[in-house]
Amino acid sequence: MAKLSIRDLDVTGKRVLVRVDYNVPTEEKNGVIVINDITRIRETLPTLQLLIQKGARTVLAAHLGRPDGKREPSLSLKPVAEKLAELLGKPVAFVDDCVGPAAEAAVAALTNGGVLLLENVRYHAEEEDNDPVFAAQLARLADVYVNDAFGAAHRAHASTSGVGRILQAWGRPTAAGLLMERELKFLGDELDHPARPFVVILGGAKVSDKIKVIDRLLDKADTVLIGGAMAYTFKLAHGGKTGKSLVEKDHTGTALAAEEKAKSRKVAFHLPTDTVIATPVDSGKVNKKGRPVYDLQNPRVVAGDIPDDAEGFDIGPETAKAYAAIIAGAGTVLWNGPMGMFEDTRFAEGTIAVAKALAEATAKHGTKSIIGGGDSVKAVNKAGLDSQMTFMSTGGGASLEFLEGIPLPGLSALDNK
Ligand code: 3PG
Repeated sequence: MAKLSIRDLDVTGKRVLVRVDYNVPTEEKNGVIVINDITRIRETLPTLQLLIQKGARTVLAAHLGRPDGKREPSLSLKPVAEKLAELLGKPVAFVDDCVGPAAEAAVAALTNGGVLLLENVRYHAEEEDNDPVFAAQLARLADVYVNDAFGAAHRAHASTSGVGRILQAWGRPTAAGLLMERELKFLGDELDHPARPFVVILGGAKVSDKIKVIDRLLDKADTVLIGGAMAYTFKLAHGGKTGKSLVEKDHTGTALAAEEKAKSRKVAFHLPTDTVIATPVDSGKVNKKGRPVYDLQNPRVVAGDIPDDAEGFDIGPETAKAYAAIIAGAGTVLWNGPMGMFEDTRFAEGTIAVAKALAEATAKHGTKSIIGGGDSVKAVNKAGLDSQMTFMSTGGGASLEFLEGIPLPGLSALDNK
């Protein structure tokens, strides 16, 4: 059932509490916190501009990191308020709490068209507990609730779920924001009714992480392309040698069952035919987590088995070429999970080849290229091809759960149309 939209509401002069996902990557440089990727902030601008234009009093609630109920200064949203003001081209007020007298006074001081960002909701442990008293404190700040935080919609927290339920009980509207609508359109409607052939590209480390998505999409896809370390579990399942590669020995049956299902549904199911491997050699160093660091020596391509002393890190060039040819003929492509360890340029070529093929198919043939969030989005950004995709999700865990068909708590607290 379609959710009530922010477009359907009369918000002039009303206090609109908007949950946004401003959980952005930050870093301290010379004592200053800088934001390394503004995508999640930028993607909320259409919702905010609409509210400003309608003369709403916009109150933004968000989390940053996992401060576990403590005031962790490095996880303050103040730098985000500054960035947002810059992007909106107008002042954004900031208050150093999200509930209580200070927050209430800051909300009361808003004028029509004004925007206020509340401090990190996770400074209060009650947020993640979905505590009803805390949710009611948030609800006191709002005449209307809008959820635009698709990336956090899989969390049943006070600001993503509890507050919506309370406002509904108080007879106040709860609606989806424009970003939330776009996410639901592309990860929902467009994949339910895809332009064909519908090609699903799945990568990432583990079969067990993606099996529910594979299973669900096998009901809809025409072709599935597998990459990433999860391909090695498929290889093992077929009796291949995987050397020191990451494999899930207890999921070989899962892998074979997925292939069986594909066969019975007449879905073409492709596994890599070649692999970029390297020999991991203990460097004698340890990382921040105290784990040994390996030098990945002698990167090379193999077509068949992976030698005992080597590990797979990317799809090989023959696979990349074959996958690119399939992508070129696709009507819709959903991509979730990189093809290899793209953070290391020696193992990024497979992932970049897929990103380039997608950009080209989108530009030349009008293929709908939908990037399902998380690491695949990072990879497309790294390849500088983000503006050439039809849609890139702002969700990580949320997009995965949505694609698995799990109901998102952040959606169930919104009114139906
Ligand atoms: C995300 O970055 O995936 C969301 O903001 C949710 O964050 P969380 O995993 O800390 O709940």
